[in-house]
Amino acid sequence: MPDPVCGPREILVSVRAAAVNRLDALQRRGPGLLPGFTLPHVPGTDVAGVVVTVGSSVTTRAAGDRVVLDPSLHCGTCTACASGDSAYCTGMRVIGASRQGGYAELVTVPETHAHLVPDHISLEEAAAVPTVYGMAWQALVVRGALRAGETLLVHGAGSGITLAAVQLARRLGARTIVTSASEEKLARAAKLGADVTVNHATADLPARVREATDGRGADIVFDHVGPALFQSSLSSLRVRGRMVFCGNTTGMTASFNLVDAYHRALTLIGSESHGHTAFGEMLQWYWSAGCEPVTDSVFPLAEAARAHERLESGEAFGKILLLP
Ligand SMILES: NC(=O)c1ccc[n+]([C@@H]2O[C@H](COP(=O)([O-])OP(=O)(O)OC[C@H]3O[C@@H](n4cnc5c(N)ncnc54)[C@H](OP(=O)(O)O)[C@@H]3O)[C@@H](O)[C@H]2O)c1
Ligand SMILES: [Zn+2]
Repeated sequence: MPDPVCGPREILVSVRAAAVNRLDALQRRGPGLLPGFTLPHVPGTDVAGVVVTVGSSVTTRAAGDRVVLDPSLHCGTCTACASGDSAYCTGMRVIGASRQGGYAELVTVPETHAHLVPDHISLEEAAAVPTVYGMAWQALVVRGALRAGETLLVHGAGSGITLAAVQLARRLGARTIVTSASEEKLARAAKLGADVTVNHATADLPARVREATDGRGADIVFDHVGPALFQSSLSSLRVRGRMVFCGNTTGMTASFNLVDAYHRALTLIGSESHGHTAFGEMLQWYWSAGCEPVTDSVFPLAEAARAHERLESGEAFGKILLLP
């Protein structure tokens, strides 16, 4: 690909690290998932780097700035953006999906979507933040309204989103129950602060959750796995509990027991990805939260194929990084 050239309100960033996400692999297999996907395409939604040059109208960023990118590029002018609801921007472009991404030496981005990275955070750590912490923040803080003292059940101990959710929930004062089919991943999640771990493949999950909550059930479930655990998730909730869901890893359609759901007055909450304001708030929190980054592996950019093999093996625990 030719080197990208930045427009008047854009900056050109030298990519120092890009994190690998499920979306990258899904789009590689095709077809493109998000509107606006075109070939040739450069994947990579999670990017951190150093500003090389800035466009003629840029005022807030300068060459040498260390930045992490908000991948969701809202237009700033549509009705949704004007009302402050940028998550529903009708002109949304996404870095690495409908716009060239971070599996590259250089990437361009509007100055408004490049956030400064404080000195105590490495660019490798920063690159792993946007998708997983953005999603965990949107699901637990914005949509789920998780409160101190509540018990959160979250599936998929090896998932970056789950590990971000555990670290976020702990710092909000909530207890966490983490599930996986892998004992090894559960042991590692416990070391990272999961209060209770349950192997959903071998245990009666709702019964184990009730045991861990004095018979009540979890206050909130964060389910990004989809149909495989949907009913178990609902059955693990307390009366008037709430379930936030945001993923379809195991399929597009879930079925569940309606009578049980309405008798126990459960709330089902879908979660879209973050808007511009939420992303900025998440980063401000992250910079001083003292989270422990969980890196599974690091590959040179030239070995992106191996990085995808690692992701698709299901064995990864935490984020996979590419370094140009
Ligand atoms: N709504 C949004 O805007 C948004 C944004 C970002 C991501 N997402 C979605 O969130 C989901 C998670 O993303 P991710 O990047 O963290 O994915 P990921 O790394 O692929 O993690 C998927 C996790 O699902 C678990 N899993 C896989 N198959 C399972 C099964 N049959 N039963 C139970 N658990 C199973 C695995 O748990 P173990 O490792 O413990 O085995 C794995 O950790 C994806 O569906 C993604 O599309 C949505
Ligand atoms: Zn817009």
